[in-house]
Amino acid sequence: MPVIFGKAPGKIILFGEHAVVYGQPAIAIPVLDVNATARVTPILNTEAGKVRVQASDIGLDELLKDLPEDDPLGAAIRATLNEITPTHTPAFEIQIDSNIPISAGMGSGAAVTVAIIRALSAFLGRPLSNERISEMAFEIEKLHHGTPSGIDNTVVTFQKPVFFQRDEPIRTLSISRPTHWVIADTGKQTPTRETVGAVRALYDGSPETYEEIFAEIGSIVHVARQALSAGDLPFLGQLLEKNQQFLQDLQVSDPALEKLIKAARDAGAVDAKLSGGGRGGNIIALVPPERSSQVQEALLEAGAVRVMPTILRETIA
Ligand code: MEV
Repeated sequence: MPVIFGKAPGKIILFGEHAVVYGQPAIAIPVLDVNATARVTPILNTEAGKVRVQASDIGLDELLKDLPEDDPLGAAIRATLNEITPTHTPAFEIQIDSNIPISAGMGSGAAVTVAIIRALSAFLGRPLSNERISEMAFEIEKLHHGTPSGIDNTVVTFQKPVFFQRDEPIRTLSISRPTHWVIADTGKQTPTRETVGAVRALYDGSPETYEEIFAEIGSIVHVARQALSAGDLPFLGQLLEKNQQFLQDLQVSDPALEKLIKAARDAGAVDAKLSGGGRGGNIIALVPPERSSQVQEALLEAGAVRVMPTILRETIA
């Protein structure tokens, strides 16, 4: 059996995070400049069933049998083995690498899972369809997130800009004019499980109030879909601002995010908002193309640990 690679990109949410957990739509795009990879190599001349798992980024080098049941890497490997070869496990080594920022709203957990399932299913001789990979990754996302919406596994598996709504077939975005964005990382890591849990606590305390906020965010996402398609920058700017205000109401923004949003606006971005779970992680700024470098510099000066320009096009090659 040859060495086999599997790969999946990062992702960023443009509109609709958190409300998407409650059934509202959201828009997200893959970020192909960062990715997770898994490499599977057979181990020769050893007993069947020996599986070595290495993830140098997190200092992991263990046998699969020693990984706890709820370890997401182990869970992705076990789920793939169960799916394809439930009665016989060959001996292999799987090496996982990722340069997607962790706990920063960029889908690192989902990307690692998808890369593992992709590589291992191909290694076992039965590459799985994107639909099945995404379904399996969704189950494993529950270990990372608790109650994920499914947006992360969908975007990183299909690698396309999506208009996502839970329990609906995946819909891609039609884009007639590209838009330019800058992603900037506060460097503060907050697990999505934590922010999703905090929003859940607010919701449980006053369901009607928060249903209303989620519905307002859902309406923004519907109009944003058309504005993105038309490349209508001024209108998209207003929608980013409104979406950010609702995220403040959900108490998931924080001073580090607000500082970057202000820096982006002051440097000529059309507008900006937090992206992903919040309380740290990333912001996204919509920029006129000629202002992109200026905005990136301003964000670094304001304390961003990393900036990444990205362009939303019809298809991201
Ligand atoms: C995380 O990338 C986005 C959230 O909406 C959670 C989810 O959709 O699972 C905060």
